[in-house]
Amino acid sequence: MDSTALLTLDDKQLTLPVIVGSENEKAIDVRALRDKTGYITFDEGYGNTGSCQSSITYIDGEKGILRYRGYPIEQLAEQSNFIEVAYLIIHGELPTLEQRKQFSTMLTESSAIHSGMEHLFENFPADGHPMAILSAMINSLGCYYPHLATNDHERDVATYYETAAQIISKVRSLAAYSYRSSRGLPFIFPRRDLPYCENFLHMMFSEPYHQYVAKPEVAAALNLFLLLHADHEQNCSTSTVRMVASSGANLFASTAAGVCALWGPLHGGANMAVIEMLKSIHAEGDDGTKFVEQAKNGKADRRLMGFGHRVYKNYDPRAKIIKQSFYSALSALKIKDDPLLNIAMHLEEAALKDDYFLSRRLYPNVDFYSGLIMRAIGIPENMFTVMFAIGRMPGWIANWKEVASNPKGRINRPRQIYTGPVTRNFVPIDQRR
Ligand code: CMC
Repeated sequence: MDSTALLTLDDKQLTLPVIVGSENEKAIDVRALRDKTGYITFDEGYGNTGSCQSSITYIDGEKGILRYRGYPIEQLAEQSNFIEVAYLIIHGELPTLEQRKQFSTMLTESSAIHSGMEHLFENFPADGHPMAILSAMINSLGCYYPHLATNDHERDVATYYETAAQIISKVRSLAAYSYRSSRGLPFIFPRRDLPYCENFLHMMFSEPYHQYVAKPEVAAALNLFLLLHADHEQNCSTSTVRMVASSGANLFASTAAGVCALWGPLHGGANMAVIEMLKSIHAEGDDGTKFVEQAKNGKADRRLMGFGHRVYKNYDPRAKIIKQSFYSALSALKIKDDPLLNIAMHLEEAALKDDYFLSRRLYPNVDFYSGLIMRAIGIPENMFTVMFAIGRMPGWIANWKEVASNPKGRINRPRQIYTGPVTRNFVPIDQRR
């Protein structure tokens, strides 16, 4: 039997439908609330608000479960790779061998950057942040491929797979170019013979006179990092992508907005913030003990970065997986006795024993380890969040598609509770004090 919720407001009663998801998640459908009662719901930070119905990713934060299109993250991490998972998220199903080959060919053919765009890079300041550059460059793809960016959802959905391949492939080249332009280094063109991660590392680290050859462990660590970030349901950046898409905006514009939302330290910027935190702890001669005490005072500038999550009130399953691979990457790279690593391990141990963190259910999240992995494989700190953006791209793309192909979709437009002055008369400038 369908269940309902009964709401009593003033002297009225309203029966509200309950929506149940495929994993038995329940929501009270309040779409008729304002029309029928004049009231709206208030949920600052959206902790209790379902903004959409989606069939891409399932998370159970209490149990520490993450699945893409129904497949457990642990199985995908063990048996798949980033490109196959990108296909799964974008298309909805795992590819057959033939589909996998076709997708790889599309990616290879889309990797080159239009020469006009290369000139755009020249005009960014030398120390421009790669996240700002990446967002601007993804948005400007719409100028170079106007037939894929019509802002007519029907037409843009018809070219969705082509646009998706362009973005998945180009984001890697654009990211590497942003880094090289921020260092004043010449661009290195993509190679047709290299797989996705190896090709990215080549564009980052090769020189015209010296080929960089990625160690298999390094490429594998990068692959896993990207796979673990491929989607994460309605987080800040994905909700931003959906918000922008809801206005009818094209896939390039919507994902460029996702990059901007990801930049902040409470979201994708946390992986960089973890390393900054570890460095400052090290510079202060602390082993992490003092910092843990300071983090407990609740001040935002002393938060234990890489700890806590809006959704996971248990160990982040991505953190568990990345932690294991982290140690194998470290031993393959022969990294021992890194002082930042020692501090990180001490912080983790101290926080996992401390009542402040336990009672608030604050556990390490994926970013606690991902910054350390990036650092170990030689990715510069200001590129950490860019790496997250490359990984999250399949999720943003699939979420855009859900919005763009929803025939009943409406522009996202929340309401507010106004708390400003009530009506008052305009005061001419000579009478103001
Ligand atoms: N260190 C110390 N205290 C914390 C932390 C932390 N990292 N995170 C939350 N708290 C405290 C917070 O002060 C509050 O305490 P009280 O109940 O006494 O007021 C309580 O725990 C609940 O925190 P909240 O701010 O209500 O939690 P939230 O769901 O709004 O925020 C968060 C989630 C991830 C923004 C937050 O935990 C945080 O700032 N963590 C550090 C940044 C970080 O690692 N972000 C990456 C998230 S994972 C990548 C991604 O998916 O984007």
